[in-house]
Amino acid sequence: MSEGILLAKVARGTLLAEEARVARLQEALPQIEAALAGETDAVAIQATLACLLWETLLQANWCGFYRRVEDRMLAVGPYMGGMGCLRIPFERGVCGACARTGETQLVPDVQAFPGHIACDGATRSELVIPVRVQDRLVAVLDLDSPHPAGFSAAEARLLEQLLSRCFFQVRSR
Ligand code: SME
Repeated sequence: MSEGILLAKVARGTLLAEEARVARLQEALPQIEAALAGETDAVAIQATLACLLWETLLQANWCGFYRRVEDRMLAVGPYMGGMGCLRIPFERGVCGACARTGETQLVPDVQAFPGHIACDGATRSELVIPVRVQDRLVAVLDLDSPHPAGFSAAEARLLEQLLSRCFFQVRSR
């Protein structure tokens, strides 16, 4: 078994200050990319990212992927956290909005987001980022937090860059 990644031990659930969260993510990114170097299988990449981002993003109570399984339908993929919805149509929730628009959704207060899907009543904020392979939307990365404003725009930008680098080598089907 590999060692995973090396980061300061901080209790799961902690919301660090934004600067400390960005620093922790920046420390993790090269380690995550090294762990995935050369991998071309989408599920292997998604599962490993769910694991390593869960270690990195302490503020998350759910961290994982919804995969595009039909033209306008997502189904749950590899994740860490409590049980999530199995399917999300493009018309519903924050994940659906991300899949529909192809744009990152940074939602500091889920209660203010029309049509938010409350899978876990504790969730207060979300960040959902599109995953593209050869310009086609194939999945979304869904990050949920029980903290209001649990994710920042700076974290979103770093994660967008990570996803585009990690999925670059995957072939679309
Ligand atoms: N992020 C989802 C709901 C939570 S998941 O089932 C873990 C949404 O699109 O609102």
